[in-house]
Amino acid sequence: MPRPGLRVKSPDLLVAESGADREGHGLKRTIGPFQLVCFGVGAIVGTGIFVGLSDTVAEAGPAVIISFVLAAITCIFTAFSFAELGGAIPVSGSSYSYTYATLGERAAFLIGWCLLLEYGVSVSAVAIGWGQYLNELLHNTIGWQIPAALADAPGHGGVVNVPAVIVLLLAATLLVRGVRESARATASMAVIKIGILLLFCAIAFTAFEAGNLSPFAPEGIGGIGAGASLAFFSFIGFDAISTAGEEVKNPRRNIPLAILVTIGVVTLLYCLVSVAALGAMPWQDVGGKPAALSLIVNHATGSTFGSTVIAVGAVVAIASVVLAVMYGQTRILMSMSRDGLMPKVFERVSPKTATPVANTWIVAVVFAVPAAVVPLDVVLDMTVIGTLAIMAVVNVCVIALRRSRPGLERRFRVPMYPVAPVLGVAFSVYLMWGLPWLTWVQFAGFLVVGLLLYTFYARPRSRLSLRGVRNET
Ligand code: ALA
Repeated sequence: MPRPGLRVKSPDLLVAESGADREGHGLKRTIGPFQLVCFGVGAIVGTGIFVGLSDTVAEAGPAVIISFVLAAITCIFTAFSFAELGGAIPVSGSSYSYTYATLGERAAFLIGWCLLLEYGVSVSAVAIGWGQYLNELLHNTIGWQIPAALADAPGHGGVVNVPAVIVLLLAATLLVRGVRESARATASMAVIKIGILLLFCAIAFTAFEAGNLSPFAPEGIGGIGAGASLAFFSFIGFDAISTAGEEVKNPRRNIPLAILVTIGVVTLLYCLVSVAALGAMPWQDVGGKPAALSLIVNHATGSTFGSTVIAVGAVVAIASVVLAVMYGQTRILMSMSRDGLMPKVFERVSPKTATPVANTWIVAVVFAVPAAVVPLDVVLDMTVIGTLAIMAVVNVCVIALRRSRPGLERRFRVPMYPVAPVLGVAFSVYLMWGLPWLTWVQFAGFLVVGLLLYTFYARPRSRLSLRGVRNET
């Protein structure tokens, strides 16, 4: 018998319990491949590019383009790993379940714990970014803005961020109504945001001046690396596709396909937007500015009309990220709860709407707190470090599963194995390296709390141990 922290849950058991290979389990199987790609784009493109771009520019200068490419490379290697695991173990627990199937229960709990950073805390970050563009929109249309005290965190000129709380509650309202409604809403919002970003590029390219790109890397290699760590935030969310494993039609084929198509589309879009943005305006004028894409369009057209259109797009785009990421968080908590590692309330599905209602409201209310009172840069750094740690581990899981279950059905296999997952780990660690030391300290503290919770709360309640006892008797 392995020690409790090292016991693994077999992929077959995970799949059998989730009902991923059959119809008629708790959740409804309604999402097709196109909707899934739209859901992916919906989960990814948001605050990172619309708001975070200006902070990334402040770090890297025009070389922000290289920062985006570095972040994209990290994601592509890891996306391969998610695609292989998502096709082999199509359950809604995503990286948490993959870790449970390979590295054992303790590591799985810690990954589930880090997923609270990737999903929960990032939902707060995204909601904060939403407020910036909402204010830009209000300013351009009715000449009024939400007063700073009600639109930002303490220490950043505000008291409480009301728009961030509002968008979280709106997303929860939609999510509890049903998956089909939410996926539809996310899909249409994804189409709108791709359109808006392409419009941004078209306008910004009219003001393109090659001179704006020189000097290209004023902050050197260090600036590019720090920029890449920030740019990474804009790519977070592609793994949310794998959390839909139990609601997707033909998940073994559609999940890997959707992950790879989505990451390709998003990478192209970001590279285009950063070249257009940096060509249109000197980097010093963009770096650190709020609602930067609207600012650039203002500069390029000399009128506020274009920037209003961009602000409308950003408000829609960022809201859809909140929706998709919150969806992912609820599904992961559901998987952990089914395993006994989180309280039972998270696994309850309403028979009327086929959605986890209580779970969704708890997530919305709990993460409204950091959204309301914590500054964006703090939540952003914590999200990034937590997500990178998860990505490094998921790449390790691919290697571990190939060794422990070589014969398991895999519709998609990582190319250049084992080089690709090893590079996935290396790039993730490199980007973690670029983060401030304070973020590392906060992250270490967060992990220690997770470890204590596992030891004293989750381990004694694990259903895997109960199952083991039953099997033996
Ligand atoms: N990638 C998501 C965003 O940029 C988290 O908003």
